Amino acid sequence: MTVTPASPPTSRVFPDGFVWGAATASFQIEGASTEDGRGPSIWDTLCATPGAILDGSDGSVACDHYHRWESDLDLLASLGLTAYRFSIAWPRVMPTGRREINDDGLDFYDRLVDGMLERGITPYATLYHWDLPQALEDVGGWRNRDTAYRFADYAAITQFRLGDRVQHWATLNEPWCSAFLGHASGEHAPGHTDPAEAVIASHHLLLGHGLAAQALRGGRRPAQVGIVVNLYDVTTATDSPADRDAARRLDGQQNRWFLDPVLKGTYPADVVADFAPYTDMSFVRDGDLDTISTRLDWLGVNYYSSFHVRGLEAPAAPTPGARPTPWIGTEGVEFVNRGRKKTHMGWEIVPEGLTKTLTRLAKEYDVPPVFVTENGSAWQDEVVDGEVHDPERAEYLDLHLAAIADAIADGVDVRGYFAWSLLDNFEWAWGYERRFGYVRVDYATQERTVKDSGRHYAAIATANALP
Ligand code: FCB
Repeated sequence: MTVTPASPPTSRVFPDGFVWGAATASFQIEGASTEDGRGPSIWDTLCATPGAILDGSDGSVACDHYHRWESDLDLLASLGLTAYRFSIAWPRVMPTGRREINDDGLDFYDRLVDGMLERGITPYATLYHWDLPQALEDVGGWRNRDTAYRFADYAAITQFRLGDRVQHWATLNEPWCSAFLGHASGEHAPGHTDPAEAVIASHHLLLGHGLAAQALRGGRRPAQVGIVVNLYDVTTATDSPADRDAARRLDGQQNRWFLDPVLKGTYPADVVADFAPYTDMSFVRDGDLDTISTRLDWLGVNYYSSFHVRGLEAPAAPTPGARPTPWIGTEGVEFVNRGRKKTHMGWEIVPEGLTKTLTRLAKEYDVPPVFVTENGSAWQDEVVDGEVHDPERAEYLDLHLAAIADAIADGVDVRGYFAWSLLDNFEWAWGYERRFGYVRVDYATQERTVKDSGRHYAAIATANALP
């Protein structure tokens, strides 16, 4: 008996030239936090705060990548990957965030970039993956408008040194996290819990993005400039007005608050209204939104999970002492568990949310080419006879690559995929307790072991197709 499929099978072959890479971030892997003139960052400070990090750990050694970068690049190449999304630590380049340039810090990235090119790996540099120099935090961090201008200076200095070899630049990684986890819920550095601060910081981050984008474009080297945002599909339990409003609020803060200013040059009016009880928008100056919406060459999308919500008609009053939330003005928004399988982060696995996120970008925005700049999953890996059998990570990968293939088939211009992450690493407030790597790191010995999923990913990247 032949069964006619409901819809024709989607091609699982990726377009020619599709970029296959892996991503990491400086603070999560480098270690060497006091070496060669690196200044302290806000994450060093948060790690020193009792109770801030689940296992009480810090980034002083991490994966010791600062000393092991050559063998780490060998590993990347051995997986058949030809692109590496890495981040540059601002406090290595400028220990206090301004004025003084630390050549030793720039030398490290110089060697790293040369090492990539020698191995046929294209560098994709991120300028800010959350490690703000502590000295800038001491004068107000992202609450201070001046930080945006200091960020543009740092971008120009870094590009001056590396721009003859690095063409792909991302300004910020996930400004939502820096602003809202950093200033509203306090889970991330600098660990503040003031909703108004979060909104102000989000604007200064975006201003910094725009100014840095202009600085990179104005440099003497050709630059492909992008920003990396973390997007979520938001679905509702029912079609009731309360549920729909809950989804609007969450989508507004998580997605549109960043996409609209960057791609349309406006803040979404409904979210401005949601924020009004906490702050007005008087910190936005004439011309800021023009700067923020400076044309982009590419957009980076980080996708891990989605939100399913419902709206409570009569939200309960906040309980005194309750953990502050990163979402502002979302009283009455309840997160609903759909019973989907969850990763070790507790995040539901929702691959179709990635297809929806990508197609939505193409439909609602004048979006430049897109790269999926992070996607991956944490599992409680075990080492058995020196091997890591992690079928769940490989399955998560397959499901999300199929979701991207669906979006491409729908006409979305997706140019590449960066797996999070090359290595197990310092997972922020979770310390070393969550493992996202395709390569295992034994933190006691710094030994690296390619997991089964790493070999699986290598086979896909090499074939440019899902099996
Ligand atoms: C993203 C971060 C990245 C990593 C993954 C799991 O939000 O950009 O550094 O922590 O989550």
